[in-house]
Amino acid sequence: MKPVSDLTDAEAAAELAQLAENIAAADRAYHERDAPDLTDAEYDALRRRNAEIEARFPHLTRADSPSNRVGAAPGGGFAKVRHQVPMLSLGNAFAPDDFAEFCDRARRFLGLKDALAFVAEPKIDGLSISLTYDEGKFVRGATRGDGSEGEDVTANLRTMDAVPNRLHGEAPARIEIRGEVFMTKADFLALNAAQEAAGGKIFANPRNAAAGSLRQLDSRITASRRLSLFAYAMGQASTRVASTHWGYLERLKAWGFSVNPLSELLATEGDAAAFQAKIGAARAGLPYDIDGVVYKLDDLSLQERLGYVGREPRWAIAWKFPAERATTILQDIGIQVGRTGALTPVAQLQPVNVGGVLVTRATLHNEDEIARKDVRVGDTVVLQRAGDVIPQIVSVVLENRPEGTVPYVFPDMCPVCGSAAVRPPGEVVKRCTGGLICAAQVEERLVHFVSRAAFDIDGLGEKTVREFHAAGLLRGPADIFALPAHEADIAAREGWGELSARNLSRAIEARRRIPLARFIYALGIRRIGEANAKLLARHYGSFANWRAQMSAAVAIGSEARIDLSGIIGIGQAIAEELVEFFAEPRNMAVIDALEGALLEIEDAAPPAAAEGELAGKLIVFTGSLATMSRPEAKAMAERLGAKVSDSVSKRTDLVVVGEDAGSKAKRAADLGVRTLTEAEWRALAGL
Ligand code: IVH
Repeated sequence: MKPVSDLTDAEAAAELAQLAENIAAADRAYHERDAPDLTDAEYDALRRRNAEIEARFPHLTRADSPSNRVGAAPGGGFAKVRHQVPMLSLGNAFAPDDFAEFCDRARRFLGLKDALAFVAEPKIDGLSISLTYDEGKFVRGATRGDGSEGEDVTANLRTMDAVPNRLHGEAPARIEIRGEVFMTKADFLALNAAQEAAGGKIFANPRNAAAGSLRQLDSRITASRRLSLFAYAMGQASTRVASTHWGYLERLKAWGFSVNPLSELLATEGDAAAFQAKIGAARAGLPYDIDGVVYKLDDLSLQERLGYVGREPRWAIAWKFPAERATTILQDIGIQVGRTGALTPVAQLQPVNVGGVLVTRATLHNEDEIARKDVRVGDTVVLQRAGDVIPQIVSVVLENRPEGTVPYVFPDMCPVCGSAAVRPPGEVVKRCTGGLICAAQVEERLVHFVSRAAFDIDGLGEKTVREFHAAGLLRGPADIFALPAHEADIAAREGWGELSARNLSRAIEARRRIPLARFIYALGIRRIGEANAKLLARHYGSFANWRAQMSAAVAIGSEARIDLSGIIGIGQAIAEELVEFFAEPRNMAVIDALEGALLEIEDAAPPAAAEGELAGKLIVFTGSLATMSRPEAKAMAERLGAKVSDSVSKRTDLVVVGEDAGSKAKRAADLGVRTLTEAEWRALAGL
């Protein structure tokens, strides 16, 4: 083989074409047929040769170059990977009381009295990734994405020394390992210096630098960045590899991963405060940024029993360090109108650095908050920022108040549409009554509609939605689906072009089919976040059924209304919001238009254990159970595919009657609903 430096342009082009073909064939053999026809070393040699030629002849880099393609989706960007076990987030604690309460909740759930043992690990602010190993060999790496679906960044992760290509020693047939990719403070500073010298992008912080480096379509760029990894969690596994989290961390080390050396096993939860203080004191001197400590219950069987609520485990919590503070001048107070009409006062600040982030705006929450703190334009204010939350104004430095300031008067009118802003008795939020007449509400609903947990359309982010709304291209969500018909107009817009317009059309077409939960969430109904949207989707199954039931639920006391407010996690207040939303003809018009534009609203996926005896059953627990707490019983029923309700109706399938059960047991008997004793319930649940 000729040295790369001796190749002519023509020879280089011919060899790149041949390499593209050979590497694609090897990829297909490996990924699609599970039958690699090259050894790792041969394969790596091909890729290296390809990269070397491209580095010397960049103008000959092919559109189908293997360096662009691995892990890349046909339309550009990364291929999506569905996580077999969702990648979740963590609840937060900020003070000893929060942590104590978390421990008490876990104990109550488990029906235990003893102190709990935890593993404590510094919480690094990087990005979480999933690494899948089949027969000990690294086969796929993905970002967290929205928790259910991430991006395939296998090729990029392969360039990291910290990601073993093979696990050392014995490994299960399949194991998925999770951890945090991050950049050290030193590597971050060096990267920014190099970027500055080369006129490249400057990163705001190590987290952004790590994320930007990993999410590169050209893995040669990732290879040139210094990324680190600490492994810390388990995903899918074909066999059990440990019985404690501490034991699992030991296995991770044996397999060749770095585990944060500051991690410790705490015999009891009482040791957490001291650990928190120790890490807090060490924080500034650590080579990487941390923002708290993650505490995980050590016993994996307890973790399993505790399970999850929404997107957060009941067995782990992030105890964050105290918020960082700074003082600055309040230059003005603006009013933002949200998706549901809420008027939120926003402080415009003289820019100030708070813990490494430049802050120019902070929330003032609501009318009462401003009055309580007597915040005035011109004041010097104390600002605080904790983790990812929006910066807040803590207090006013009264000694610095200039002369002539006046108390702030909260507006009675929507600053955007001029409709009256009203505040119902007992509520703190003033709302614009303009509904869909208000341009701000329409725009915020559109932004929400395309957000990540909703329609999540590539190329149609917040900025674009605002731009299209201002330009009159989007007046309501259904207009999004008319955009492909205006592809040429979009291509002609500044900053667009044919390719981006075509990609946008494609991304929109792909979303004409949408899961029910996402659809419900996308509507932006007050109090219907992701978790409640999922509850509703699971409960009602199909869009047609949901819509019919919501209309029927308008009547207070109707079977549909009782059923709705009986869904665990929904309750009276949320039921009212839903009914109100469905009673508004303009909202129904939006839904009708959407139904006309969409191909299909997919029925909610059947519960995990759909084949079990409890699958699809509507179950009510009443009285106290001797062998498990009520929350654990409910969580277990839901895991087995049942729906749990608080009230007994004709539709109830089973009522589990514990000790001292009251009116619900009687109502079950009256309605002829089957009842179970605790022992019968345990047998049915397979315990
Ligand atoms: S465990 C279900 N351990 O924090 C538990 N997360 O707020 C999943 N993180 O997305 C996470 N250090 O990016 C875990 N030692 C650690 C962590 C850690 C940092 C990040 C991770 C996760 C986020 C959750």
